[in-house]
Amino acid sequence: MEHRIITTEYHSEDIELEPRLRPASFEGYIGQDKAKANMQIYIEAAKMRGETLDHVLLYGPPGLGKTTLSNIIANQLGVRIKTTSGPAIERQGDIAAILNDLNHGDVLFIDEIHRLSRVVEEVMYPAMEDFAIDILIGKGAGAKSIRLDLPRFTLIGATTRIGLLTAPLRDRFGVVMRLEPYSVADLTKILMRSAGVLGIGIEEGGAQEIARRSRGTPRIANRLLKRVRDFAQVKFEGVISRYIASESLDILEVDKMGLDIIDRNMLTAIMHKFAGGPVGLDTLAASIGEEPETIEDVYEPYLIQLGFIARTPRGRVATGLCYSHFGIEIDRERMTQ
Ligand code: ADE
Repeated sequence: MEHRIITTEYHSEDIELEPRLRPASFEGYIGQDKAKANMQIYIEAAKMRGETLDHVLLYGPPGLGKTTLSNIIANQLGVRIKTTSGPAIERQGDIAAILNDLNHGDVLFIDEIHRLSRVVEEVMYPAMEDFAIDILIGKGAGAKSIRLDLPRFTLIGATTRIGLLTAPLRDRFGVVMRLEPYSVADLTKILMRSAGVLGIGIEEGGAQEIARRSRGTPRIANRLLKRVRDFAQVKFEGVISRYIASESLDILEVDKMGLDIIDRNMLTAIMHKFAGGPVGLDTLAASIGEEPETIEDVYEPYLIQLGFIARTPRGRVATGLCYSHFGIEIDRERMTQ
């Protein structure tokens, strides 16, 4: 699949930028007010009691700052953070080595925790609950299980798919927090802050225009800022105004709602080829030359969130909002069916 500017997934072009833009403390962390306020209380309480923080599960769409928040939590606790991900831990021995290397109070951050293998997950249960792991020594009838104590640590698990977590794993987290897409106002603040960090000249209106097209996601906002900066420098010779942001994003084919060419192709296919739907997922996929799974996992979620598509038992339907976004008349005959 070709790289989309508006993808929420971490991409190679973010490697240079994202670490520089991540706030290191809650003071610099904008938005997610509820999660932030609660988290600060849990951290303070744990510190006052001299205890380690409960295990924390963060969930929500990609690009909303789960990694950033985990780093801030560790900073605020004054402990080290060890970062890994579900698919990176293949064998029981891998997770045993990671756990054994932790110090008292450390944060272990496991991204994509829904992708832990079953055998690794089984090591996690006693590790999370009793701060111990059971190691099997020897083979066959003579094999013996030895319990090895671990330091008390805080597991922070992050997932975009909480529904895929097994109940025993989910139940072992004391704190479960959902991160929400950011408002345009919060994304505007994030962009103003990022521009400051990167030394980019931008007006509030310019930041707001980029924010509107960033699909509620700081990662996309920061990526678009970088691209718009190039246009501002080369084509417009100046600070990023609303006009420059708007012109640049039009050239990049990211529209007023943050839709790109793939989104538009799919929506216009539903409206034009299938009279607004309902159209089955497989038929829709074939008509635009994509895999059904890609539509379901990648393209569709934001369009459903916007209210541009609805899922019905008979297939996907383009909504009235979708028609008005494209300035297309709704087929009245279809509506009275
Ligand atoms: N960069 C990415 N996410 C951020 C946030 N929530 N606050 C400030 N800067 C950010």
